[in-house]
Amino acid sequence: MAGGQASSKPSSTPADDALSPQRFERELKSLAAKARSDTWAGRTRRQLVVYLRAALLLALLGVYSNVSQLNLSPVYGAIPAAIWHSKVLMAGCFAGWAGNEALRRSLPVSAAQALPLVALYTPALQFFLAGLSGRLGAQWGPVATEALTLFPLAALTAAAVADDLEGDGGGGGARLTMLPGFVADAAPGLGSWGMLKLVEQRAGEHLRANMGRAVAVYTRLGLELLLGVAYAVVARSRFLVYAAPPLLHTLVANPHVASPAATQALVSRMMSDNWLLIERRESVTGYLSVVQNMREGFRALRCDHSLLGGNWVQAAADGDVSEPIYGVFAMLEAVRLAESAKPVADEDAHALVVGLGVGTTPSAFVTLGINTTVVEIDRSVYELAAKYFQLKENNPPVIADAVSYTAALAASAPETYDYIVHDVFTGGAEPVDLFTLEFFQGLAALLKPDGAVAINYAGDLSLPTPKLIYRTIKHVFPTCRIFRESPVDAEAAKGHAPDFTNLVIFCKKTAGPLRFRAPTARDLLRSPAREEFLALKHEVAQDVLLSGEDASVLSRNDTSAVVKWHETSALGHWAIMRNALPDMVWEQW
Ligand SMILES: *[C@@H]1O[C@H](CO)[C@@H](O)[C@H](O)[C@H]1NC(C)=O
Ligand SMILES: *[C@@H]1O[C@H](CO)[C@@H](O)[C@H](O)[C@H]1NC(C)=O
Repeated sequence: MAGGQASSKPSSTPADDALSPQRFERELKSLAAKARSDTWAGRTRRQLVVYLRAALLLALLGVYSNVSQLNLSPVYGAIPAAIWHSKVLMAGCFAGWAGNEALRRSLPVSAAQALPLVALYTPALQFFLAGLSGRLGAQWGPVATEALTLFPLAALTAAAVADDLEGDGGGGGARLTMLPGFVADAAPGLGSWGMLKLVEQRAGEHLRANMGRAVAVYTRLGLELLLGVAYAVVARSRFLVYAAPPLLHTLVANPHVASPAATQALVSRMMSDNWLLIERRESVTGYLSVVQNMREGFRALRCDHSLLGGNWVQAAADGDVSEPIYGVFAMLEAVRLAESAKPVADEDAHALVVGLGVGTTPSAFVTLGINTTVVEIDRSVYELAAKYFQLKENNPPVIADAVSYTAALAASAPETYDYIVHDVFTGGAEPVDLFTLEFFQGLAALLKPDGAVAINYAGDLSLPTPKLIYRTIKHVFPTCRIFRESPVDAEAAKGHAPDFTNLVIFCKKTAGPLRFRAPTARDLLRSPAREEFLALKHEVAQDVLLSGEDASVLSRNDTSAVVKWHETSALGHWAIMRNALPDMVWEQW
């Protein structure tokens, strides 16, 4: 249907026939028949087809908008990928809408016909641009990528829709003559934008809930290919042959495709750099993979552009429990060492762990005999932790959103837990719903009167957010102590650099001093990381986080004060992750 121009030329008429009376009569008859059939119903039907195609193109762009971000998040993280995203989309739509006539004159194909070409070139472009991510950085990489992929897609969609709605259809104008002029002029544009944003939002919700569900469809590359095919069907033309090279690249050489062949190729490629890719999958919280550094001997669980945790491989075979690569997980176990009026034996203790990661802390608790319940939102994270990270369990995991789960549990089973561990960081920004006053109140309700909580906070202490979150915690728990994983470095101390660190905040419900007993051999579980980190060091004075006049706390009804710092925080976290693992590992997902 997009190739209309070529077929609309009248077929050539034999010269001898041209002026004959029979011919003339035949023409007249056919014209009369046409006039009869060109009724209101016929016009309406044609009009409807035009509207339907415009709606379809807008819907495809709405879905693509999400898919474009999904394809950037393994390399840049979801938050950096979102910084410029809607501006690029809007700029593309505006450019295409305003410039549709210029496009029509300059392009050898119609805007609609160009769409499948752009859509099918996109995966290849994303692949090549990802290889430059180290040089582009998390700030500019996503913009540069979307400027060459999403922007043209949006511009061509808008131009095609403008062609349809303003073009030879004409009926659109007639339908709107009852409205004042400027409203009638703006209506198609505003209507299209509204429709695009609606589909974008609905598709986003659907994809977030379903990624990884059916491997052929709900994968980043699967969705891109599906959309490419959909564009090709809606706007087919003979120009589609030009999409063959990028399509071939995607099917044969793109390691991000979730096919066994592509995975095998990726495994070989990473192995030549001494990295073993053990498993990868798409999931609701991001792209997950288990990678092992063969030279240094550690294994890590990756989620998008972030590490959920990791273990030293050899140490796991020697000790009682797996040996974490990050000290913060061992620090969290010190929640057991908080002194209480009536000490609880591990066999009688109950612990709730919010956020699993690779399960370092819950595995240690289970080894010590503590009845441990884990709440984790992502079933795939649980499955990979159980399969590759020696997860130990004594209760089935609760796969649920911690906000609703703890709220319900606080009502039905208050004062159940001796220890609560809150460890939910991913992607360089706090999952804000898990740091609200209401959430901490729920945890406090679940904690026994003499119990203790440990909260992991990873972030830049030079930003205002850690202060706001600490005030919120203190609003619920009267007694707290704060420990850093590593001391402040000299540059950060002078305020010249971001001060990224992991903090563990230990608190009790009751007033009075919070003291920790010294760890015993049993607590250390024959683990060097625990010997290093379980006896807490690097205490942060409370005044550092409580200074200033501000007394506000973070409430569920208004989280904007935290969210507005997410970009800064995620960009800093990106740089840290690029130091933790080389560019190659992040780019080859
Ligand atoms: C842990 O505690 C819960 C609640 O008291 C109980 O139902 C469950 O059986 C216990 N699990 C183990 C392994 O003791
Ligand atoms: C949020 O709730 C708190 C207390 O629950 C209230 O004081 C505050 O005004 C509310 N803020 C907004 C923006 O509704």
